[in-house]
Amino acid sequence: RLKVAVLISGRGSNLQSLIDACATPGFPAEIVLVLSNKADAYGLVRAQEAGIATKAISHKAYPDRESFDAALHDEIVAAGAQLVCLAGFMRLLTPGFVAKWHDRMINIHPSLLPAFKGLHSHERAIAAGCRFTGCTVHFVRAEMDDGPIIAQAAVPILPGDSADDLSARVLMAEHRCYPLALRLVAEGKAMVDGEIVRIADSAAPQEPLL
Ligand code: GAR
Repeated sequence: RLKVAVLISGRGSNLQSLIDACATPGFPAEIVLVLSNKADAYGLVRAQEAGIATKAISHKAYPDRESFDAALHDEIVAAGAQLVCLAGFMRLLTPGFVAKWHDRMINIHPSLLPAFKGLHSHERAIAAGCRFTGCTVHFVRAEMDDGPIIAQAAVPILPGDSADDLSARVLMAEHRCYPLALRLVAEGKAMVDGEIVRIADSAAPQEPLL
């Protein structure tokens, strides 16, 4: 099974979806470490309850991004992880760190990338009058919320939706998308080819239905 480190900063509901997926028989990945840059992240409790090793490394204890990322890298390597999953990890990673995990680090973002990168995706999708938004799991590149797309799910924006309403609806899609994407990557079925992901298994949907 592919050994995975999950990086979080908060609630960890996507982490929970990965924990649950990894607990299903035959799932091709296992979580060996959950790392948070915040000691009070609730996701750390979720990991501990699942018997997974955890570590909190505060970015504030390091003089610059490079040294913080070097500490992250050392922990991930020490845990034996082969893949990094960003799950609500709200720190931009340095190009040097991203290069070390090229095609071995994936992220989930709550929009249909390349639209609405960065913060406040839901507010901006509503303000733009979009009828649909969604979520994206992608391989990580140095630019924020950028990289080859592994899986997406579309979610409708309904009249009168608040950002919280939309966030809750998109989150349900996230919890389906991330395990699906992790499975494809762990099985070696998501191949980066010219910065586009080809799904090797024709039975696997490129866009999961809601
Ligand atoms: C999720 O909606 C995730 O897509 C988003 O943060 C939330 C974390 O929730 N990530 C980003 O915005 C990254 N750019 P969670 O802690 O409950 O998984």
